[in-house]
Amino acid sequence: MHRVHQEITRWLEPLGAQVRIDAAGNLRGLYPGLEASGARFLVGSHLDTVPNAGPYDGVLGVVLAVALLAGLGGRKLPYAVEVVGFSDEEGVRFGTPFIGSRTLVGRLDEDLLGVVDVEGVSVRKAIEEFGLNPAEIGQAAVEDNVHGYVEFHIEQGPVLEKLGLPLAVVDTIAGQSRMEVTFVGRANHAGTTPMELRSDAIAAAAEWINAVEGIGQAVPGLVATVGSVRAEPGVANVIAGKTSLSLDVRHAADEVRLRAIQNCTDQAEQIALRRKLSAHWKTRLNQPAVAMDPFLSRQIEEAIGRTGSKPHRMVSGAGHDAMVLAEKIPVAMIFLRTPGGISHAPEESVAVEDIAKAIECGLYLLDQLALSTIFQARMPGA
Ligand code: HGY
Ligand code: MN
Ligand code: MN
Repeated sequence: MHRVHQEITRWLEPLGAQVRIDAAGNLRGLYPGLEASGARFLVGSHLDTVPNAGPYDGVLGVVLAVALLAGLGGRKLPYAVEVVGFSDEEGVRFGTPFIGSRTLVGRLDEDLLGVVDVEGVSVRKAIEEFGLNPAEIGQAAVEDNVHGYVEFHIEQGPVLEKLGLPLAVVDTIAGQSRMEVTFVGRANHAGTTPMELRSDAIAAAAEWINAVEGIGQAVPGLVATVGSVRAEPGVANVIAGKTSLSLDVRHAADEVRLRAIQNCTDQAEQIALRRKLSAHWKTRLNQPAVAMDPFLSRQIEEAIGRTGSKPHRMVSGAGHDAMVLAEKIPVAMIFLRTPGGISHAPEESVAVEDIAKAIECGLYLLDQLALSTIFQARMPGA
């Protein structure tokens, strides 16, 4: 991440942006506007990713933000543009996502700072080890003059490719629950323990994983995923005494998602009871669905139209930092087509002509906001 910060800083400074790394490790590149005290518009995405990832999820949105500043060719707008590269959106290391963007809305609190990774290193310690000062977290919060945020992101799915469209505007970001589920049975000898006397934590987990898949398949638009399974002691000749699993459930309607979570935990309890184990779970994230800002979304639709593409509105199944920033400021998202619909894997790709369209659309958007009285009205003292 240090090397990424250095590289992006190397691109931003010659464009006239001042770059800082805030106390949560977010890169913040401020391109001043014509009026020093004017509004500010954030453009960005996340810089972290998942293991064995593709090259575009997150970082493309930050590079496109830099490309927009380059596209201005030194021109100043009536508002400042701040490029933001969030430090941890995926939640891979600490099991809970949006650490960078939660900082901007004042939610990097003591509880979150105390969450530890698999080595027992806390978020607070990780911030200090990165060379940053947790005492300065408050300075990372978005100020009142921030009038909006837009995030360019690959769609990470098959919709735009099927429609033959390069860009889309996001309508709503689906709500997302993440949980840690543990089955506790009894470790025992694989050779001497009769089948009927076992409390096998892997067998219970296997039955539950199937039940979770069935819950996801039963409701249109619902997705339910067990992405990781850890067994203890995890060796061939020992019946597992404990398994820890991740659960990820998403849907555009919160009541559907929460009902599905309830079904998954009920199933865990029933399976554990029947197999003489116990089931435990911890909620790592309960992120409601978030609708994008209507004004900014309309501006994006107009900008997409000006590139000669048909604007398409769609739900995002993936979570994004925009859904966190929405707690404090108007947010909107622009999707780029994902050839093959593959993401979170090395095959993830993007078409260079769609990138060109995205930059064209972004420059139209910046100019539309510069002329918009509604956007200006959000400026304090306008
Ligand atoms: O998992 C997601 O929704 C995204 O990749 N953060
Ligand atoms: Mn991702
Ligand atoms: Mn992403």
